[in-house]
Amino acid sequence: MKSKLNIGLIGAGRIGKVHGETIAFRVPEASLIAVTDPDAATAQAVAQRCGIPRVCATADEIFADKSIDAVLICSSTNTHADLAIQAALAGKHIFCEKPIDHTLEKIDLALETVTRHKVKMQVGFNRRFDANFARVREAIVSGEIGTPHLIHIISRDPGPPPISYVKVSGGMFLDMTIHDFDMARFLIGDEVTEVYASAGVRVDPEIGKAGDVDTAVILLRFANGVIGTIDNCRQAPYGYDQRVEVLGSKGSIATENVYPNRALVSTAESVRRDLPLNFFMERYLDSFEKELRAFVEAVLADKPTPVTAADGRVPVVMALAAKKSYLEGRPVKLSEVAAEASLETVSR
Ligand SMILES: NC(=O)c1ccc[n+]([C@@H]2O[C@H](COP(=O)([O-])OP(=O)(O)OC[C@H]3O[C@@H](n4cnc5c(N)ncnc54)[C@H](O)[C@@H]3O)[C@@H](O)[C@H]2O)c1
Repeated sequence: MKSKLNIGLIGAGRIGKVHGETIAFRVPEASLIAVTDPDAATAQAVAQRCGIPRVCATADEIFADKSIDAVLICSSTNTHADLAIQAALAGKHIFCEKPIDHTLEKIDLALETVTRHKVKMQVGFNRRFDANFARVREAIVSGEIGTPHLIHIISRDPGPPPISYVKVSGGMFLDMTIHDFDMARFLIGDEVTEVYASAGVRVDPEIGKAGDVDTAVILLRFANGVIGTIDNCRQAPYGYDQRVEVLGSKGSIATENVYPNRALVSTAESVRRDLPLNFFMERYLDSFEKELRAFVEAVLADKPTPVTAADGRVPVVMALAAKKSYLEGRPVKLSEVAAEASLETVSR
């Protein structure tokens, strides 16, 4: 067994920088060998910060480098599937940020290439590795709260992303809610069969002009009868709001937001505390480390990755169904979206 994994970093924006720093400073079993980003200054800055010896002009140079075992695909969403296919063809193991793509057709092509070339793939659903949500999963698996009946997921960003990001993100359901779709099926341990989405533009009219929504509630129905809600907004003025509650036959389990400290300020006027950790870079730092450690370990020890390529596909089906539900104003079964996708593939 190899003792150290050599990694190429593709994309050095917000999440590329987080993953680069995680590998460089928190995962001694891996080394960053090269980085690429069309924005050369961004790539250079991450290389300098993380001690990466080589800055490549394109991902092709990373794929051609025989010393590189695996890649982290951290580029804009619209590039993921093509890069994953190229990586698989080059025999590189793949950690790919969510979502794999906006279309099932392209995802299926990527998954088929990954399987055919026998490389490992892990998709970036980091929240599964968060200690709070892992505890909720444990309470469900162990039967501590009995048979689950209801799940509520609150997932609100502190503020909207730039419009340039919105335009290539695939829309809120595919970009943001996708984490919550994954969380719902991960926590309940069963598949959602139907979604019913109500959504609108409440935060920024520019998001509406870009053809997207910024606020939504999505009702979920699981195969095992559990009913769920996801509550999303691109703006929560008090910071990143990330909570879950599950009610079961023997009780409930709920998570709180994560705060930078536990101090309470009590005065004659009020009792208050500081705001929660502001965004994913702070709130989910530990989970990013755990997911990358798990990926590195899976490749080095030749074990299955804990979040598989197939786990990356299902939430995309859920997101496409939610979009359809919102546009058509009715509950949509996931089977409708899957059937449409297979028709597309047949008619190609
Ligand atoms: N798991 C999470 O919590 C999480 C958080 C943020 C973003 N993401 C995902 O990560 C991806 C990137 O998001 P971001 O917030 O870092 O965006 P970003 O816009 O900050 O960065 C994207 C970077 O990719 C680069 N890029 C574009 N095409 C490229 C290519 N062909 N090769 C190499 N680099 C390329 C861009 O120049 C840019 O620097 C998105 O798919 C997003 O959904 C995941």
